[in-house]
Amino acid sequence: MVIRQEKKEEFREIYDLVKLAFETAHVSNGEEQDFVNQLRAEGNYIPRLALVAEEDGELIGHIMLTRTYVKEGAKQHTVLLLAPLSVKFEYRNRGVGGALIQESFRIAKDMGYKAVFLVGAPAYYQRFGFQSAASFGIQHMTGVPDENVMACELEPGAFETIRGTVEI
Ligand SMILES: CC(C)(COP(=O)(O)OP(=O)(O)OC[C@H]1O[C@@H](n2cnc3c(N)ncnc32)[C@H](O)[C@@H]1OP(=O)(O)O)[C@@H](O)C(=O)NCCC(=O)NCCS
Repeated sequence: MVIRQEKKEEFREIYDLVKLAFETAHVSNGEEQDFVNQLRAEGNYIPRLALVAEEDGELIGHIMLTRTYVKEGAKQHTVLLLAPLSVKFEYRNRGVGGALIQESFRIAKDMGYKAVFLVGAPAYYQRFGFQSAASFGIQHMTGVPDENVMACELEPGAFETIRGTVEI
């Protein structure tokens, strides 16, 4: 398996991969594939952090980390949003999702990002170092339970200086 940056000519294939993956997700609004297109069209897309997992020429997984912000009055901290993460059904439970997370985090650290947020299942993301954003003192306005809005430090101690409300 190879993990590498997504290519423009694969956007249609990735759309289908995300759509299909979320048909078997525990939680889905059915629009994750359109969210991918929306994220690419907005100013917070980071091509180096939109990755695919490829095996024998087939795309089997995809991850996207885009810029988002934690705001505290006039202060703004740039952080990352992990969304969405998709692995083809037939390739699950062999570490593809974990490998996509780890490779994206390696690149993100290299680029100087300090923290990643997501909305997701604690039972899955805790193993990668995520905990509730609330436990770091970060607020959100998502309407989903606090435990599902999660954060992970890329730089130890990042949340000693990042305070405020995350825009997700
Ligand atoms: C979630 C997803 C990306 C995981 O991909 P994967 O390649 O199977 O993940 P990994 O192989 O790294 O990890 C598998 C482990 O995570 C667990 N897991 C997967 N989804 C989980 C969930 N929603 N809640 C709790 N545990 C979960 C598996 O049971 C397995 O556990 P084990 O290692 O103890 O056997 C994949 O199931 C998927 O694409 N799901 C549909 C889309 C989705 O829900 N995306 C995430 C949105 S929060």
